[in-house]
Amino acid sequence: MNNWIYSQSTKIIFETGAMKRIAAILEENQLKNGVLVADPFFARSGLADQIVANAQGKLIAVFSEVEPNPTVFNVNACADLLRDVKAEFVLALGGGSSMDCAKAASTLCTLPAGSTIRTYHGTGVALPATHLPLICVPTTAGTGSEVTGVAVLSDPELGKKAPIGCPNFYAAYALIDPELTVSVPAKVTAATGLDVLCHAIEGYWSTGHQPICDACAVHALHLVFDYLPRAVADGHDIEAREKMCEASVIAGLAFNLPKTTSSHACSFPLTTMFHIPHGEACAMTIDYFARVNKDAQGGRVQTLANYLGFADVDAMADRIAEMKKDFGLRTDLKDFHLDDETFDKLVAASHHPNMLNNPVEITDEILRDMYGKMR
Ligand SMILES: NC(=O)c1ccc[n+]([C@@H]2O[C@H](COP(=O)([O-])OP(=O)(O)OC[C@H]3O[C@@H](n4cnc5c(N)ncnc54)[C@H](O)[C@@H]3O)[C@@H](O)[C@H]2O)c1
Ligand SMILES: [Zn+2]
Repeated sequence: MNNWIYSQSTKIIFETGAMKRIAAILEENQLKNGVLVADPFFARSGLADQIVANAQGKLIAVFSEVEPNPTVFNVNACADLLRDVKAEFVLALGGGSSMDCAKAASTLCTLPAGSTIRTYHGTGVALPATHLPLICVPTTAGTGSEVTGVAVLSDPELGKKAPIGCPNFYAAYALIDPELTVSVPAKVTAATGLDVLCHAIEGYWSTGHQPICDACAVHALHLVFDYLPRAVADGHDIEAREKMCEASVIAGLAFNLPKTTSSHACSFPLTTMFHIPHGEACAMTIDYFARVNKDAQGGRVQTLANYLGFADVDAMADRIAEMKKDFGLRTDLKDFHLDDETFDKLVAASHHPNMLNNPVEITDEILRDMYGKMR
């Protein structure tokens, strides 16, 4: 008998035009003096200004200096602004990078000026329970960060990328509006879409898997296999965009409690050392790990492949490899001309704690075989 606990505190609103609800949500929750943390794309496009105008004075500043794979410095700067303007809530608009920066800053800003998120980044030191209320509006169909209790940050000076988990990081509201993803370029659509696939598969085979999350994983994976190729081929295919947004938030629910596993563990050094975007980095190893895990957990990974209409796990892994190729995503590391020292460092750094959630023990030998094929 498997015992499990499921909980999710975020109110999820999935609706075309969901942005229009912001003013009413602020009114209903008596939220004022907020800061909009916006992806730079939306600061440039004018949407950030439009949202501020529509909020009728309840948003008093905009922070948009968020880099992809947000850094500890982005978070510190965002928290400084929140403190300076005495912010009372945070509205995050963007992909995982903007949402994660906003999540971490909305807690850090409750600490005295001069505090740094570095104190809590991969150190085991717990953040305080104080935080500002958070509303998340995702603009990629990728991370599911709008429903997770995690913020993934990078520290370029220390060469580190790692998640911070904290109950404060659950948004009060996730507003999912598929129209916001129409402007995502094809390559980013492909990479973020395969991040969704990794969240669902890894949540399913994680050692922490549980039934509600399994059901979410299967649902999200059906959608990714059916609709991601369409969303990549034509960004204006609104049905494909809607289905990928649905897959993204539901895959977020699939991995949030069970946690991610081998492909996410490897993605951290692949991104830190070679600057490979998050989803593309996760996708590089997922078909390899599917083959490694195929007979794990009494055959339930094979059952997953069958549920999804594949003859077996190998056929599912072949289809993932084919999608990566069709989308023009990276499948090897040849152009980095890895010397032995860099290769060893990549293998060692891939043993991130999330690796321990993989159903099969991932040894150095397995990693050397996998990366050796990409070299
Ligand atoms: N917190 C979590 O639960 C969680 C889960 C998985 C990944 N992550 C993290 O999230 C980050 C990646 O987030 P992401 O994949 O969403 O990418 P991102 O937020 O870094 O955005 C990628 C690029 O797309 C642009 N962009 C975003 N939305 C756009 C839109 N609608 N139109 C045009 N351009 C747009 C951005 O400006 C950026 O250049 C990584 O740091 C990753 O580790 C977090
Ligand atoms: Zn991810």
